[in-house]
Amino acid sequence: MIETVHTVQDLRAICALWRQEAQTIAIVPTMGALHEGHMDLVRAAGQRADKVVASIFVNPTQFAAHEDLSTYPRTPARDGELLAVNGCDLLYAPTEATMYRYGHQTSVSLSNITAPLEGVFRPHFFAGVATVVLKLFLQAKPDLAFFGEKDWQQLRTIRQMVTDLDLDIDIIGIETRREVDGLAMSSRNAYLTPDQRAMAPALKQALDQIVEDIMSGGHAPDISVEAAKAMLLARGFSAIDYLAPCHADTLAPWQDGDPLRVLGAAWLGKTRLIDNRGA
Ligand code: PAF
Repeated sequence: MIETVHTVQDLRAICALWRQEAQTIAIVPTMGALHEGHMDLVRAAGQRADKVVASIFVNPTQFAAHEDLSTYPRTPARDGELLAVNGCDLLYAPTEATMYRYGHQTSVSLSNITAPLEGVFRPHFFAGVATVVLKLFLQAKPDLAFFGEKDWQQLRTIRQMVTDLDLDIDIIGIETRREVDGLAMSSRNAYLTPDQRAMAPALKQALDQIVEDIMSGGHAPDISVEAAKAMLLARGFSAIDYLAPCHADTLAPWQDGDPLRVLGAAWLGKTRLIDNRGA
């Protein structure tokens, strides 16, 4: 059984004890419904720090009213087991009232890095993420924090916040864990019907195709993006929010010579998948 705390006071007490013993602390923030991608973060955290805290909190402020907060997958028993066998030392599972006390007013917002891509389609998202992640950092005071590269813009946003606010925390990005057919692991994959699951790997293929086209100089990026969109629609995707070649760090539109990251978000029925690929 994984040791679990639900309050800021209990989390702080345990982390303070560890710090007194000169133990380094890593945090792995999650929203639960854990899979092997999360376990990669936990295991990497265990290699880099003496103690690993995982948090599970389905953060309401990063969901818009029409989004899937109420249906977001929740698998607490299995999550606890996975964390225990993968070397996590402590699970922090706060309630909503703990994270957002009555009368909560403060929100952390960033500008350029959160403006494009997810920022266009989910305008509330990054303020919710930045606020909750900063709160977790202030509560646990970790030395390191681990995030998946699947949410590339989220990872860039957190790095930017840590730089801007002079937080003394190493942010470590961990490569996306994929299913054998290439689909990026995600808690939201649980929403896919068997037919949609069979179509889903096309998103990675579309991103790979764009990376390949750009790197080979074969097509202008716009043409390559349009071809990839057409391919996704032909393969059964219902809508595409964006397929966007970007500067890997700033997320500005990619220009010749920039480090390349192609980010994508697309819908299979009511399920929205995101993914990204680098050169
Ligand atoms: O990536 C997630 O699971 C969430 O956005 C995070 C970082 C745990 C914040 O709620």
